[in-house]
Amino acid sequence: MTPALASALMPLMRGVDPERAHNLALAALRLGLAGRASEGDDPILATEALGLRFSNPLGLAAGFDKNAVAVAPLARLGFGFVEPGTTTPRPQVGNPKPRLFRLTEDKAVINRMGMNNEGLGAFAARLAALPRPLGAVLGANIGINKEGADPVRDYPALYAAVAPHADYVTINVSSPNTPGLRDLQGEAQLAAILSETMRTRAEATRQPPVLVKIAPDLALDAIPALIETCLTYGVAGLIVSNTTIARPASLRSGHKGETGGLSGAPLFAPSTDFLRQVARVNAGRLVLIGCGGIASGEDALAKIKAGASLVQLYAAFAYEGPALVGRIKSGLAAALRREGFSSVAAAVGADL
Ligand SMILES: Cc1cc2nc3c(=O)[nH]c(=O)nc-3n(C[C@H](O)[C@H](O)[C@H](O)COP(=O)(O)O)c2cc1C
Repeated sequence: MTPALASALMPLMRGVDPERAHNLALAALRLGLAGRASEGDDPILATEALGLRFSNPLGLAAGFDKNAVAVAPLARLGFGFVEPGTTTPRPQVGNPKPRLFRLTEDKAVINRMGMNNEGLGAFAARLAALPRPLGAVLGANIGINKEGADPVRDYPALYAAVAPHADYVTINVSSPNTPGLRDLQGEAQLAAILSETMRTRAEATRQPPVLVKIAPDLALDAIPALIETCLTYGVAGLIVSNTTIARPASLRSGHKGETGGLSGAPLFAPSTDFLRQVARVNAGRLVLIGCGGIASGEDALAKIKAGASLVQLYAAFAYEGPALVGRIKSGLAAALRREGFSSVAAAVGADL
């Protein structure tokens, strides 16, 4: 099957319970049914960040492949990078179902999955078994269990376990569905986690760069301290952002009142505004990855002009399927040329 054919079948999935549809999509990917991108990437999309080379700046965000079961097939769809996880030290079942809701009229998703996953052991073993070269940069997104967590102990141990296999590691302190997790974005808690994680990193054989993924709901006055803390401990970048607990007044879907994190189209404007604020304070020091509501090449370029060196998406991919990857990449290449940019890097922060 080609990505286009796989996407053409997506409307069939709309009648299926969203979590079941997601699991079917992962199964199809594992079976190789989603196909492979037919062409190599347009050279204008090639970029370097985090000391890594990306054939294009479009990544798959965390949460789609929580257990790293479909990393190679996802890479074959043409993503420049893929970020499996969030993985936690021990397996956990997550919240009771239903916990994933389509807001179809709003092109949005609300989830309160609760970081359900098979745990670090299975995750790290799957990363270790991946074919190399993968054809895409590989991130690993790490988090803590709902019960019995000790963040200052757990994040370094998670880092140590995935570092041999990943090109970068993302510390998730921003999922809204694990009680207390977002408090770890606070200066003192973040400093304690980063200090120990970086101590572990310094002793590791492979030392992939560390990113921190933040919520779009952080108060603007928390940004300077957050960035300084990250710089103090040698963090390489920020992913801006995770889902939001806010509910824009524009939402129309019947599911808009569900508890959880909102992503997709209604997150685009607030997360891009937030990215721009972060980029202003950051002044080019940390690498920024823009995430939230991207569904087109124009959206991707807007994030890049607001300060992102790379971008990620989840919700629009879940709605539109594999063909969206090629559409966003060709749309981005066309938009870069139309606006007179010779590369992705040339457009980074152009709006600031
Ligand atoms: C069902 C679902 C599960 C998610 N799980 C995770 C997760 O485990 N870890 C994480 O860092 N982000 C997770 N996210 C957040 C996405 O990675 C992304 O930051 C967010 O959805 C915004 O991007 P989008 O608007 O393109 O979807 C999840 C999102 C969704 C919709």
